[in-house]
Amino acid sequence: MSQVQVHTLRPTSPLTFNVSQISRSDSLSFPPTSRSDSLSFRQGGDGWALVNDLSSLATLHLTASQLPGIDDDDDIFPSLPPLLDGHPDIHLRNGIMNASVLAAKHDPDAEKAFFVGDLSQVYRQHLRWQACLPDIRPFYAVKCNPDPYVLRLLAALGAGFDCASNGEISQVLALGVDPSRVIYANPCKATSFVREAGRVGVDMMTFDNADELHKIARAHPNAQLVVRILTDDTKSLCALGVKFGAPLATVPGLLAKAKELNLNVVGVSFHVGSGCYDPSVLLDVGGGFEDALFEQTAANLTEAIAFYFPDRSGFKIIAEPGRFYVATAFRLAANIIARRAPLTEAHRDDAPPSDKPSVMYYINDGVYGAFNCILFDHQTARPYVLSMADSFHIADSEPLTISSVWGPTCDSIDCVCLATPLPSALRVGDWLGFDNMGAYTSCAASQFNVFEVSKVVYTTGGGFGASEVRSALARFAAEGHGL
Ligand SMILES: Cc1ncc(COP(=O)(O)O)c(C=O)c1O
Repeated sequence: MSQVQVHTLRPTSPLTFNVSQISRSDSLSFPPTSRSDSLSFRQGGDGWALVNDLSSLATLHLTASQLPGIDDDDDIFPSLPPLLDGHPDIHLRNGIMNASVLAAKHDPDAEKAFFVGDLSQVYRQHLRWQACLPDIRPFYAVKCNPDPYVLRLLAALGAGFDCASNGEISQVLALGVDPSRVIYANPCKATSFVREAGRVGVDMMTFDNADELHKIARAHPNAQLVVRILTDDTKSLCALGVKFGAPLATVPGLLAKAKELNLNVVGVSFHVGSGCYDPSVLLDVGGGFEDALFEQTAANLTEAIAFYFPDRSGFKIIAEPGRFYVATAFRLAANIIARRAPLTEAHRDDAPPSDKPSVMYYINDGVYGAFNCILFDHQTARPYVLSMADSFHIADSEPLTISSVWGPTCDSIDCVCLATPLPSALRVGDWLGFDNMGAYTSCAASQFNVFEVSKVVYTTGGGFGASEVRSALARFAAEGHGL
């Protein structure tokens, strides 16, 4: 078997892998252009791709400068992990190949799960936002994914930030973001948090009850208040109305109370009430923008705003998108660490026999980690095979078996996927991939059983937006921000 040896800057030791492990891939389309003993890459729409006929390769050494993904200026922010180039597929594969190298060296953490975060996807979402909602300024909901690169990129692109705690505010202000670009969008805050927000200059904040007004009057009397009204969220996956939002009937009373306390109400979520006594009105249309429905949602919103607010002079509109920006930008690779036959209890559901899983796979991230989004954000995990039997090439004709996928902890609630078709030939050591893992994943992950939160490999991406991301971040850093 031919061997390929690739020298990288990170990890410092050479990566060695069998040529069969990097067999041709549909998604990266490696054309067998030449029979040579050197490995070369070309840059295309999808990023970097190998151009050799891999089956002909002998041992090969690449220097760091030859290797895609390693740039001279990849340490824009010295305090952060490196920022690589290239399509996320490449970094998923690199991570998997690296894991086999580490496993061969008996590294105890060899095959840890890892994310690949593609910042150009965040950038492309921002362009989509600007194209569809040019008059609505996004205040990124930090809670969704306070990733240090995402925050820097969005700060560099001029977004505002929706923060829900002092910790989030500190994180954002530490990047050099002006406090006027922050809304403290938590209607029920600790008094000390309100006071601290005032001290650091964050004035814009939401409320939905009279106690909060009394608190703000004491702790931050110059705050710019936004009344959060209760909306119909029955069609949302996460109904927040059970916890937050003032019923419309209570709003006039709240506005009167604010006036009595000499507080300044500058805006409202969705509906500007009659008690808004500042000429520069703020309308905050919140978050919840879904990637797949974005263009339609934006069109409906634009139409509604035009209808309800025909005269928008002195009118500022903001939104608090979270998942829209980051969900699709992060993918997770998880290793199959164990496999077994189902327990008889697993057959006690109502599913028809053909839908019952006949094999259980255990992977090294679960609902106590990145997949907490299944419990807290009502998401469904959809695994696909990243590598099987040391190959990235998975034939469409692979026979499938209904399988269940479980996390690594000792708790039986730790189920990632109850029933999904996966190749019957899948074995311990193979890798599963999960797309759309950027929203409400690591930020709420625990370390139950002392399983570490999966780390992120960052890339500027390989296609459109990659150079724009790198330039925006480099400019931001050159201004002295986020270092
Ligand atoms: C006040 C507020 N704004 C914005 C968001 C972001 O929502 P999404 O990530 O669905 O856009 C949330 C999510 O919980 C929220 O509570």
